[in-house]
Amino acid sequence: MDISEKQIAGWNTSELPIYEPGLLEVVEECRGKNLFFSTDIDAEIIRADIIFISVNTPTKTQGIGAGRAANIKNCELCARKIAEVSTSDKIVVEKSTVPVRTAQAITRVLKSNDKGLSFPVLSNPEFLAEGTAIKDLMAPDRVLIGGQQNEAGLKAAATLVSVYAHWVPTEQIITTNLWSSELSKLVANAFLAQRVSSMNSISALCEATGANVLEISRAVGMDDRIGKRFLQPSVGFGGSCFQKDILNLVYLCETYGLDECAAYWNQVILMNDFQKKRFSEKMVSKMFNTITGKKIAMLGYAFKKDTGDVRETPAMFVLRDLLQEQAKIFVYDPQVKREDMWSEMDYTCGVNHENTKNLDDSVITATDPYQACEGAHALCVLTEWDEFKTYDYERIYKSMAKPAFLFDGRNLLDHDGLRKIGFEVHAIGKPDPLAFSDL
Ligand code: UDX
Repeated sequence: MDISEKQIAGWNTSELPIYEPGLLEVVEECRGKNLFFSTDIDAEIIRADIIFISVNTPTKTQGIGAGRAANIKNCELCARKIAEVSTSDKIVVEKSTVPVRTAQAITRVLKSNDKGLSFPVLSNPEFLAEGTAIKDLMAPDRVLIGGQQNEAGLKAAATLVSVYAHWVPTEQIITTNLWSSELSKLVANAFLAQRVSSMNSISALCEATGANVLEISRAVGMDDRIGKRFLQPSVGFGGSCFQKDILNLVYLCETYGLDECAAYWNQVILMNDFQKKRFSEKMVSKMFNTITGKKIAMLGYAFKKDTGDVRETPAMFVLRDLLQEQAKIFVYDPQVKREDMWSEMDYTCGVNHENTKNLDDSVITATDPYQACEGAHALCVLTEWDEFKTYDYERIYKSMAKPAFLFDGRNLLDHDGLRKIGFEVHAIGKPDPLAFSDL
């Protein structure tokens, strides 16, 4: 269910509102059988036994906690709607990422119905990642279900467990109290983001010393207490969750008077900001301290591969910096829509067509990567799309201005091979042969 007619209409076609590998197949297999998309919210609430609240909880942009606190207004509105139209008891499940103790607010709103109905509230946070959402859904690492530790809460939790048990082994379904479940989601994302930021801080040290961050990541990751995943250095993490959830955690710590804890987690964000800035500054400094009027090709704009999502994408911050230096940027991404680029740029960076002159002349979205690179002084890779590895870089090199700079923000390409072709390659945390003779 959604209040947006446009979204629901999209879900009822083969042009789904979002791109996600494998999603269309699942939708086409089930639509009209046990999967329905509709805007008739009241009728469906009445019919439902279990209702998942899956609305966005964006970071507040004004008022108390602006810039950090999550706004749970949409969750509260859903609860009010459920209380208003229901004619029977229902299990209400928080699927959205919410600050700890949101279920208390939802429960109070639901309890204030005057029909004597009961609405046990469960927390069941979403752990799937974009680009691998269907895989994560089919074979999740774990499913977490939090409920109140009383008879009604435990019974509701058991019902939801039985739904997941159709395809998830029961030992992977964890039940906890409500508050642990709500807080686990924020903590899981904060830990993942912290690993990326830790590795990114080391990438800067590697570039200064001639150590190779990929070798470090391999050596460190083989300690199974640490593990291999989320140790890939990059131009910075993006996406709709990491930054928002950490800020939410920072705000919660502050609210409880835990200023040192707030500062500790906030540093993960500051490290990410540093990494994005460091990348664009390096581009400018390597290109003789000026990119004014130079053509720059940007390969990739999404916050990671296999999605068209641009929320908090590091590419946006690099693009903003390059714009300030008055470069002419050609962006190529297989999935990103130009209108989404601009709406996110306006929302997050405050850069729009009104306050920035000649935006459409300065940023061109190319439909072909070779066209984007033709005559460019530099090429930067900002998303790790697989297709970028298959391009004809001899051809690209020939078509570029010389020296042909290549900045790989994802350590995606074959750097030695590219250097042989003639590119001047700069990667993340990998030693620069021009700077070190003793590698
Ligand atoms: C994340 C969580 O992983 C998921 O569990 C949660 O439900 C939603 O938030 P998502 O935002 O889709 O998922 O992306 P994720 O795969 O976690 O990547 C986040 C960012 O970190 C991306 O920009 C990615 O490129 C970057 N990243 C990830 C790295 O830079 N290095 C890594 O090693 C891993």
